[in-house]
Amino acid sequence: MNQQPIDDLCLRLADALKRDPRGTQVPARLAEYASEHDDWRSMLHFSKDSYTRNLVHRCGPFEMLLLGWGAGHESPVHDHSGQQCWMAVLEGELEEVHLRSTPEGLAEGRSKVFKTGEVAYIQDEIALHLIRPRGGQPAVSLHLYAKPIDTCMTFDRVTGKPCEVPLSYHSVRGVLCEDDPADHVRAQFA
Ligand code: SIN
Repeated sequence: MNQQPIDDLCLRLADALKRDPRGTQVPARLAEYASEHDDWRSMLHFSKDSYTRNLVHRCGPFEMLLLGWGAGHESPVHDHSGQQCWMAVLEGELEEVHLRSTPEGLAEGRSKVFKTGEVAYIQDEIALHLIRPRGGQPAVSLHLYAKPIDTCMTFDRVTGKPCEVPLSYHSVRGVLCEDDPADHVRAQFA
């Protein structure tokens, strides 16, 4: 594996999370990477159908993904399976909307726009959320999930009904997953 700045970032993050599982240093590391590097481009794919989840690195303590957002794409309302999630915007602008589940359905909370270089953080005690690009433009974000998340709960926007869904990858280190993404993960990170 060629050591690129993004691999260096993963090593530093592994070290930071080992020292402090709350990840106090994570936002600064992600912001620094976002402002200085663009080697991530070789591992990013877009799709016209939906936003893409492109795996950069996976290990016991975390997974790192590049998400490619086309104009008009939107994530479902979802939780984070009890894990921590940081999101650094690498290109464009992303809006994050907080929501919570109530007996009457979903209640919308605050909405915030994150610009290139900015870092967002969420975990289940804060809120459910959805993400979408702003301004009719595509966007790219770098996500760190600690620990990796293989399933999450999504919530119907109208009824609030929850549904457990498996999460998969569009590509692994730049290679499209045309068959079972787990095979690609095993090949790269076993
Ligand atoms: C996803 O990982 O598919 C959605 C984005 C997020 O919650 O960070």
